[in-house]
Amino acid sequence: MAEVAYGVATSHTPSIGAAIDNDREEEPYWAPLFEGYEAGRKWMADAEPDVIILAYNDHASAFDLDLIPTFALGVADHFPIADEGYGPRPIPSVEGHSELAWHLAENLILDGFDMTICNHMPVDHGLTVPLSIMYGKPDRWPAKVIPLAVNVIQYPPPTGKRCWDLGQAIRRIVHDFDEDLKVAVFGTGGMSHQLQGERAGWVNTPFDKAFLDRLVDDPESLTRISHIELLSDAGSEGIELVMWLIMRGALGRNVREVHRHYHVPASNTAAGLMILESEEHSAFL
Ligand code: DHB
Ligand code: FE
Repeated sequence: MAEVAYGVATSHTPSIGAAIDNDREEEPYWAPLFEGYEAGRKWMADAEPDVIILAYNDHASAFDLDLIPTFALGVADHFPIADEGYGPRPIPSVEGHSELAWHLAENLILDGFDMTICNHMPVDHGLTVPLSIMYGKPDRWPAKVIPLAVNVIQYPPPTGKRCWDLGQAIRRIVHDFDEDLKVAVFGTGGMSHQLQGERAGWVNTPFDKAFLDRLVDDPESLTRISHIELLSDAGSEGIELVMWLIMRGALGRNVREVHRHYHVPASNTAAGLMILESEEHSAFL
């Protein structure tokens, strides 16, 4: 039987990926951020999930404003690294888990989540930077990855509550998959940041720290934050934080906090990393 055992939430700031690719992790600007990733990488090497269901947002790489799926699931065996304008990142391409992905697609749709099914999907920094944060620079990614792209680019994005419900459904559906697999769910993006307009550069550390606390102890309260509140408190791109609720919803009620790291700035963002283990033995809440 498969189970969602682990949750990871992390920012995906593209320059973090560039710092890793160009061996700049020890430079004074980057060192305080990467020091906080060390414990996460050690944990990841021990945890060894077989599959990562990775909730992220595409940044006009696989989709653009011609086509805006709210939730898109990658069911392929292989996902190429997107060229985001400066050539694809020099990292291994991503291997999928087609069987589990189709099991998720079928059961999520039958459960009322109208997923877009993607047979071909180049993956951009939204997905690859979190992998680099957790694994460094391996020759191949140690886990298979099922990309779950969430629209947080074009209004209206899904609500935090919808993302939470999707996470809970993922927990149940993974549990029904008839193969022994340890699954991690990643929620990526955030934390507070705004890349545009008069408030470009906006970071809200008290909001972020409270969000981290509540993600562990009172996640359902986060599902009641409206889009307007999230935009106002976390910035226009801080809306990416709704994806963290997919991860948290997939872990069940009881979790153990393994690691937390928060650092400002990473480029224009407040960077957060939180690792949780599920202590819930039921597939249901
Ligand atoms: C930055 C952050 C993002 O989340 C993103 O998608 C692109 C750029 C930044 O801080 O530079
Ligand atoms: Fe982003």
